[in-house]
Amino acid sequence: MARISPDIIDRIRDSTDILDVVSEYVELRRRGKNYFGLCPFHTEKTPSFSVAPDKQIFHCFGCGRGGNVITFLMEYEKVEFVEAIQNLGKRIGIEVEFSKDDKKKEFFTQLYDLHTVAVKLYKENLQSKTGGKVRNYLKKRGLSEETIDRFNLGYATSSWDQLFSVIASKDIPDDVVQKSGLFSKSDKGVFDRFRDRIMFPIKNRGGRVVAFGGRDLGGTSDAKYLNSPETPIYNKSEILYGLSVTKDAIRKEKSLVVVEGYMDLLQLYQHGILNVVATSGTALTEKQVNEIRKVTNVVYLAYDGDVPGRKATIRAGYNLLKGGLTPEIIEIPEGLDPDSWIKNKGTKEFTKAKDRSIGLIDFHIKFTELDLSKPVDRSQLAREIIDEIVNVKDKIVQQFTLKQITELLSVDENTLVGMLSRKSRWINKRRGDQIQVVDDWALNTSFEKAQRELICLLVSNDSDTISFIKKHVDFDHFTHPVMKTLAERLIQLDSDNFTSHLSGVLDQFEDKSERELAARLFFETTTQRNPKQVAIDCLITLEQTPIKQSISEHRIILREMEKKGEDTSNTLSEVVTLQKALKTLEQKRVQMLNL
Ligand code: UTP
Ligand code: MN
Repeated sequence: MARISPDIIDRIRDSTDILDVVSEYVELRRRGKNYFGLCPFHTEKTPSFSVAPDKQIFHCFGCGRGGNVITFLMEYEKVEFVEAIQNLGKRIGIEVEFSKDDKKKEFFTQLYDLHTVAVKLYKENLQSKTGGKVRNYLKKRGLSEETIDRFNLGYATSSWDQLFSVIASKDIPDDVVQKSGLFSKSDKGVFDRFRDRIMFPIKNRGGRVVAFGGRDLGGTSDAKYLNSPETPIYNKSEILYGLSVTKDAIRKEKSLVVVEGYMDLLQLYQHGILNVVATSGTALTEKQVNEIRKVTNVVYLAYDGDVPGRKATIRAGYNLLKGGLTPEIIEIPEGLDPDSWIKNKGTKEFTKAKDRSIGLIDFHIKFTELDLSKPVDRSQLAREIIDEIVNVKDKIVQQFTLKQITELLSVDENTLVGMLSRKSRWINKRRGDQIQVVDDWALNTSFEKAQRELICLLVSNDSDTISFIKKHVDFDHFTHPVMKTLAERLIQLDSDNFTSHLSGVLDQFEDKSERELAARLFFETTTQRNPKQVAIDCLITLEQTPIKQSISEHRIILREMEKKGEDTSNTLSEVVTLQKALKTLEQKRVQMLNL
């Protein structure tokens, strides 16, 4: 963990409001004393992501993510603890310094830095003498200097170790070099992953280069494009090529054109169609759909005019639909891609095609390989579509789509409705099972409920109740590890700065699921009219439960002993002692109430 002084962390926490920070990323609306919005961590149509300003925490009732403002930034921006602190510090004008041995921070910074070095080198290469042939190639493909510059295109020479020798002098740890994805290792040593390729830097949401796509020049390589592997800073399923450059244009245009390739994007951009992103030839993931939804909800798909392109369109289209977006499809002529089409014809035909765009279902029906003159094939297609739309959460969109299939395939609507509801019952059943697993901690026994209610009382910042609990509690009675840790820590909080320290307690959980459970517990508000009474009941329950358990264990033993005709007098007297202890606890309850 970082070497930032706890004082600074406290100071930053004290002067930061989670509501301000989260509001920059999520549209929040007030409901009661908490705020709700669409969860940025999973796909949803109705808000279950909530922020509690009084406790300075967030929790999503849908996916279970939760934590404090630091956690939020860490997860949203994908940064480490220290960087989140630094970011928060910046907002309020506190410069956060790190000590040199701050390994984690260095690790990520060095990964980013390595990419910056690579971008610079590749750009220089492109402008150098060896880059001449590449500049010509790019010119032939119609890219202007300006576009090349805007997207930082570069060239990795055919050298085996140009980049590696540049970084060799920089004293970068092996671990960083290995995990960067920029090098390969063989028995002969480490060498550059990208050689003799045009380099397309790939940026994350924040605009930092985290990976590369490299296009083969000689036509000699097996892979036309070679991309960075997944690395600690590059999560393929989350990134869309170009988005960090084009997001403002997308917001302004209130729509987005999705293409497959790097070249498609650059060509469109250069021709003034700025609201564009590229999937880089992979399937559009749920996370990418989430990214899209943050900037617009009008999406056009403009994939290549070939069989793989159309298949990919259909797949991407349904993923958008599941994520709450209804895509329009721009039909690209057979054998062309947006790049070649626009390069040859300019934007005019493309724009016309955009105006003539068709919906996903129309597109699916138009290009299915099934023979729709046959009833069997028709029913097969209906089934395919139903399998997709059963996962569409927006019921209106689902209904609408169902109507479309009915009309377009002239199949009976009731049959389709039946198919859909059978399918969705089946899926819900499976989901139900899953939720039970997630909710495993759902603390239903009175014993666990007592632990949970004590935590709630400790979170409430009612100092009388807290000091009462402090006086009487025995932490060993907490059986749930998260609740035990929480109770121990909460009770030590200073009542002056309660709120900011409360959310800080969450930082002490290294384990993500434990922290999320803790945040969830924090969210459960108690509206107890008599907190002291509740506290007493809980404390007594905690003490009584193990005794009660012991009594019932003894009963079982007794029954067996009786069966075997053994002498039970000792065991019986133990039971009597235990029962006395229970009675004493009842007296204790009364005494406590009168305190
Ligand atoms: P395409 O094969 O359509 O490439 O793949 P392209 O963009 O038209 O390339 P040019 O015009 O021949 O230069 C579309 C996208 O799929 C990914 C790339 O991101 C590419 O832009 N792809 C393709 C790969 O990742 N690896 C490959 O081998 C091929
Ligand atoms: Mn293409």
